[in-house]
Amino acid sequence: MKKIIISLFSVSILGIAYSAPNVTTLAKGKGLYNGAGSCVACHMADGKGQPGSVPPLAGSDWLDNSDRTIAIVLRGMAGPVKVNGDRYYSAMPPQLLFDDEKIADMITYVNHAWGNKGAAVTAAQVAKARKALPQAVYTPETLLKAFPF
Ligand code: HEC
Repeated sequence: MKKIIISLFSVSILGIAYSAPNVTTLAKGKGLYNGAGSCVACHMADGKGQPGSVPPLAGSDWLDNSDRTIAIVLRGMAGPVKVNGDRYYSAMPPQLLFDDEKIADMITYVNHAWGNKGAAVTAAQVAKARKALPQAVYTPETLLKAFPF
């Protein structure tokens, strides 16, 4: 019985961490996202991107897998991509200015901003990816091969 109570307890804690990251993380992520030279420069404060050149993050169908998002942010992506049915021919450079925790907070923010309902991302997940991912800019094809929809 004790074991069951403990495991129910930890499942509910994990559940909370997954669906509702704490307010501090979201506030930090929002500040970083909107900082100089950060995501905001291209994807804009409303997450809608720029028609014809930068795809949206608000409601993006590419945000279904946080491991893929981490890979995009750490290594960049270049080549024709279809997001929410629209085509973009552009490139995103790897985001080299940020440590693991900052990237985790920014992606957690993106995953919860503008009505998005994604997962919280941890610094440990980013650290692991930083070591493991190939040292090359992704194309949409290589990304989807590694992290399918
Ligand atoms: C210099 C401009 C620029 C910056 C800065 C930038 N991006 Fe991007 N991002 C792009 C472009 C352009 C693409 C599409 C690349 C392509 O056409 O292959 C993209 C694609 C993406 C995608 C996949 C497609 C989509 O719209 O969902 C994600 C996720 C993403 N960016 C997240 C981020 C996050 C998070 C940051 C900040 C940490 C960031 N980007 C910073 C320009 C940028």
